[in-house]
Amino acid sequence: MLDIRDLTKQFGKGDSAVTALHQVSLSIAEGEFFTLLGPSGCGKTTLLRLIAGFEPPSGGALVLDGKDIALMPPNQRPVNTVFQSYALFPHMTVAQNVGFALEAQGRPKAEVARVVEKMLALVQMTHLRDRKSAALSGGQQQRVALARALAPQPRILLLDEPLSALDMKLRKEMQVELKRLQQETGLTFIFVTHDQEEALTMSDRIAVMNGGRLQQIASPRELYDLPENRFVASFIGESNFLMAQKLAGMIEIEGSKTALPSGFAAAYDGPVIVMIRPEHVVLGQGPSDAIRLTAQVERLVYFGTDTHIHMRLRDGTPLVARVQNALRGGAIAKVGDSVPVAFPQDALRLLPDTEA
Ligand SMILES: Nc1ncnc2c1ncn2[C@@H]1O[C@H](COP(=O)(O)OP(=O)(O)O)[C@@H](O)[C@H]1O
Ligand SMILES: [Mg+2]
Repeated sequence: MLDIRDLTKQFGKGDSAVTALHQVSLSIAEGEFFTLLGPSGCGKTTLLRLIAGFEPPSGGALVLDGKDIALMPPNQRPVNTVFQSYALFPHMTVAQNVGFALEAQGRPKAEVARVVEKMLALVQMTHLRDRKSAALSGGQQQRVALARALAPQPRILLLDEPLSALDMKLRKEMQVELKRLQQETGLTFIFVTHDQEEALTMSDRIAVMNGGRLQQIASPRELYDLPENRFVASFIGESNFLMAQKLAGMIEIEGSKTALPSGFAAAYDGPVIVMIRPEHVVLGQGPSDAIRLTAQVERLVYFGTDTHIHMRLRDGTPLVARVQNALRGGAIAKVGDSVPVAFPQDALRLLPDTEA
């Protein structure tokens, strides 16, 4: 539905130029909940603003339903935006806010009223339809902002960190709401967040960005299980990074070897970085195909559901294991203990040896 090809955006000229987007290419399918995820300053808002038409691109193409829209004015694009600051009209009622764009388009009164009621029902705000928007809570304002953006029936809804002003509990509720809304309307959502948990729980697919460049586009599960580089592996979830040697179909860490896990590119032999998630590190012998080492326990951090065991390998590499706590379970390990640790072969992932 939306094809973004080699999209580049540069702000300013000469020495002071900032390239906010470097040849970004991605395709979004109709009805997808698609998320742009990355740290502050990575270009998420810039990409949304280019899609919305608030900024012209410096290069590349934006193709919607087969038509290049890169130079189309914003009000002609079948796209609407929900901003972090809801920007409601405070003196207007909830219903007036939701109907504003439709009235401005000169739609018949009866039609405006019908759409407004439908949108208010969708965001469960019918009972507050006549309240001034200044007298609403943050969560309620967010619902009105959503209804207002949905009212002109855009093909794509752009959402720029719409939940980041809400407190944690409300934010979790609105995450569920937003997902329900997207599923009920079947609309295409392009959602921006810097919060990896929010991205993982809500999205069909996620594009991870860093420094104006796409790092990886995949489903939440695939991003977590099969990160393609060190940036993605550390931005999404927690990871251990270990120096390893790859040689003759084997992978070796501190003298312990296992066969290369499937999917390891066998392009070259030599030093590689291997990643393993803390919950996959086994305290003990592990399965027969595991790499087995000894680690020294430095710190235990109790999290209720699990305990994080911070350790060091013989060569000083830090290692964290996450062990689920059993009901009335005893101590898993003590600080200062030397413990056997195992990395099952299928939990290892080889990353390109580049600093992200
Ligand atoms: N209007 C602008 N003029 C100059 N630089 C800008 C402008 N808008 C954004 N930038 C720069 O582009 C980069 C990406 O910004 P932005 O898209 O807002 O990131 P994000 O939304 O991921 O936090 C940043 O380095 C930012 O300073
Ligand atoms: Mg932003």
